[in-house]
Amino acid sequence: MFISFEGLDGSGKTTQIQRLAVWLRTHRQRVLTLREPGGTRIGDAIRAILHDRSNSNMDSRTELLLYCASRAQLVAEQVQPYLHSGGIVLSDRFADSTLAYQGYGRGLDLDFLRSLLDFVTHGVKPDLTLYFDVDPERALERRMASGAEINRIDVETIEFHRRVRDGYHRLIAQEPERWQLIDASATTDQVAAQVKDIVKTRLNITD
Ligand code: TMP
Repeated sequence: MFISFEGLDGSGKTTQIQRLAVWLRTHRQRVLTLREPGGTRIGDAIRAILHDRSNSNMDSRTELLLYCASRAQLVAEQVQPYLHSGGIVLSDRFADSTLAYQGYGRGLDLDFLRSLLDFVTHGVKPDLTLYFDVDPERALERRMASGAEINRIDVETIEFHRRVRDGYHRLIAQEPERWQLIDASATTDQVAAQVKDIVKTRLNITD
């Protein structure tokens, strides 16, 4: 089972992935949590380049290829072996982030991105994608309040983040059976309860 977590930065997905991992482990499931970009030694080096705010002149195509390079390594080194061993992979972002940010956000060609992503992921797709929906203003407020590192993408305009959010909604409409939309403006506990219910049903876990 491969579950990805998607949403704007500040949507609370990182907290939720940690809580879900703890809950699954208490139900005797083998779980690997990953984050993108990064999750491997090579990927972490790429992450540092991508997040560096002094790289504000990065071309969109350079950006795209760096996210894809990090993902190719992650799939080969972590995702595929763990899925083959029968474990559950929880990933903080996956290929849908590229469609939302580089496709809908930056305006790169979506058909081209889809074939590139197929190549990069070896066709590995999440079985379930949880999308944490929050408006961009609220997400930015949360991000500031949390004291999190402010990266190169965070400093993009609110309009950019609106396009990304709108992009996520379009992706959900295209493949509704894979996605679950979660209202991330609820409290952390309420959101965690929703996540748990969804995953419990999908994995047939009994308390
Ligand atoms: P995060 O690690 O805080 O989620 O930050 C990752 C940032 O990179 C986030 O702003 C979204 C962005 N991103 C893309 O633009 N494209 C991608 O393919 C991925 C994985 C992330």
